[in-house]
Amino acid sequence: MNDRVLPGQQLNASDRSIADSYDLYYGSGLYDGRYPRPNPATYRSVLRLARNAARILDFGAGSGRYALPILQATGAFVCAYDISADACGALEGRAAAARADAVRLLITPDLEAARSAGPYDLVLSLFGVLSHIETTGGRIDALRSMRSMLTVQGRLLLTVPNAVRRFPLHTASAQHTSEAASETAVRACLRRYYPSARQVTYHHDIENAQRPFPYYLYSRRQLASDLATAGFALELLEADSILPERRLVRTPALAPADDVLRVLLPSWAGYGLRATCRVGPPWLLTARPSRAWRRLVSGSLTVWILDN
Ligand SMILES: C[S@@+](CC[C@H](N)C(=O)[O-])C[C@H]1O[C@@H](n2cnc3c(N)ncnc32)[C@H](O)[C@@H]1O
Repeated sequence: MNDRVLPGQQLNASDRSIADSYDLYYGSGLYDGRYPRPNPATYRSVLRLARNAARILDFGAGSGRYALPILQATGAFVCAYDISADACGALEGRAAAARADAVRLLITPDLEAARSAGPYDLVLSLFGVLSHIETTGGRIDALRSMRSMLTVQGRLLLTVPNAVRRFPLHTASAQHTSEAASETAVRACLRRYYPSARQVTYHHDIENAQRPFPYYLYSRRQLASDLATAGFALELLEADSILPERRLVRTPALAPADDVLRVLLPSWAGYGLRATCRVGPPWLLTARPSRAWRRLVSGSLTVWILDN
């Protein structure tokens, strides 16, 4: 790890385990090989929001596939925070190699250091950072923490894995479905299965060992509900891509096709869900996204789709 990366805070057991898994993932070079560049549509959204931002926090920045291009494309101060020390080290290396403006860049595994460098006009938390937190309370706390670091006019851009598209063969463990005391046994049982919002554990093969990665797979409703609970007003909820992230970011020529698919298909068909939010006055908070009928017109054929 590079000298400029400060030591991180004490992590609870579950965050420690995910940080250890990601240390191996980044340390092996596997992550950067799989995801060498940003998701094109999400990066466009970032740049749109970054236009009005002097300070940007990338919460769960990883090895900086967003943080570094943002630093280079804008004049903003960028804080890249991640609990994985190896992610921070990898970003240090990439920033040095790219001769990035070190004065405008803070890379840290320490949440308080990230907080002290705020408040921020834009907070990003991209590609499932939130979904690695294993309890509902933990995810809400993380969202509240992001909210507390935003200016009054600030925006949050968040992407999470969509339960409808991810890990269809994975059933949630019973331990993670009994969190809500008020939930009936039948409902809790149903929520274990595809395509409900659910907690799954996926094992990645890294350096000949299987490492567990917990994912909370979101539905649109659950995401909207968690954001509202944490005090965010949801402005936009859309698909981050239709094609799988790995395929899309490794083959940039697919981006135009994905753009067309995102226009044609409803957001619940997205590989991930992308939410743009602002710090909401309570009376403007939306507890759940409204269902909307989308009209698709192709030649003489008109189709209506329920976009929920
Ligand atoms: C799938 S990677 C995404 C990294 C980066 N945002 C990107 O798009 O490439 C998820 C990242 O979230 C980080 N992470 C997981 N839990 C976290 C937490 N509680 N706080 C901060 N970062 C976390 C991991 O260390 C990992 O780098």
